[in-house]
Amino acid sequence: MTFVRNSWYVAGWSHAVPRTLTPIRIMDEDIVLYRTEAGDPVALEDQCPHKRLPLSMGRLKGDTVECGYHGMTFGANGRCVRIPGQNNLPASATVHHYPTHEAGGIVWIWMGDPALANISQVFDLPQLHHPGWAPHFGDGLYIEANYVHLADNLCDPAHVAYVHPTTLGNPESAGVPVEVERNGRTVVTSRWIRDAPPIGFFKAFGNFKGNVDRWHYYYFHAPSTAVIDFGSTDAALKAGEDERHLGVRLFAVHFLTPVSETEAIDHWMHVRNIGIDDETMGDRMNEQFRIAFDEDKVILEAIQRREAKPRSRQPVRLTIDKGPNFLKKIITEMADRERPDKAATE
Ligand SMILES: [Fe+2]
Repeated sequence: MTFVRNSWYVAGWSHAVPRTLTPIRIMDEDIVLYRTEAGDPVALEDQCPHKRLPLSMGRLKGDTVECGYHGMTFGANGRCVRIPGQNNLPASATVHHYPTHEAGGIVWIWMGDPALANISQVFDLPQLHHPGWAPHFGDGLYIEANYVHLADNLCDPAHVAYVHPTTLGNPESAGVPVEVERNGRTVVTSRWIRDAPPIGFFKAFGNFKGNVDRWHYYYFHAPSTAVIDFGSTDAALKAGEDERHLGVRLFAVHFLTPVSETEAIDHWMHVRNIGIDDETMGDRMNEQFRIAFDEDKVILEAIQRREAKPRSRQPVRLTIDKGPNFLKKIITEMADRERPDKAATE
């Protein structure tokens, strides 16, 4: 079990959380999402404590949810406010209420101890609301794989030459070493590919005439957020590490939401420093990202299917695994800390 509960997760983009009862699943828990009349997002356990009917099959009445079986009704805080046919409301007549927070077009949910939910810990990237940058939402990509496999993929620049040959990678990057740093709960995996032809993405959006210097900085903030700073500059500029603003630069942001041990949703978006007023550019970039992330999905789902079978030998360890291995260690430590029985034995 690698779920880290005490953390904020994306429940959905704001536009995907309507004022109707919407069932979702996170960490194998069924949750019903809706909005109050004032528009605030609400997340409740999606199960009536009476006969276990999903509350999402009931009715939204004002800010309350009425079970579709016998009309037991729950407020937005999860407490029962009405039981047809009786006046006393037993203390046990509640459903779990998950703290939520909405900011920047994203609805966040806290899966852990509600007393520890602190909105100052909700992820933010300054470029998402900075005038020199244009943010653009992507999709919520459903992948039949444990979210740690996605996390592994998102601190691994070494795969792009092989998995994304037409969009995000090209053969020139195949032999370039990867630098890895651990900084608290963040793993930074990076590399520069100097003086090489642009990848498909920057051919389409960079208007480069010759070779480019291309960088990748994968920041993975455990347990579930990846920010990939990538871009290209004209190779003639010989740009330094801190001159990335001179080029075409993007941050691809991935928020991983574990659905079950074998499923996850990758909510991805990007923010870019070019075409800020070009309304079509975000969509055109997303077309390329969709091709690339579907390629990751195929690989990760195939690996997950193999994981269901017993392993007959230990995996071969490679130098490029350093970043993903750091990350898996951090996620395991975070998950273990939430289970005192486990932490006490270490
Ligand atoms: Fe990938």
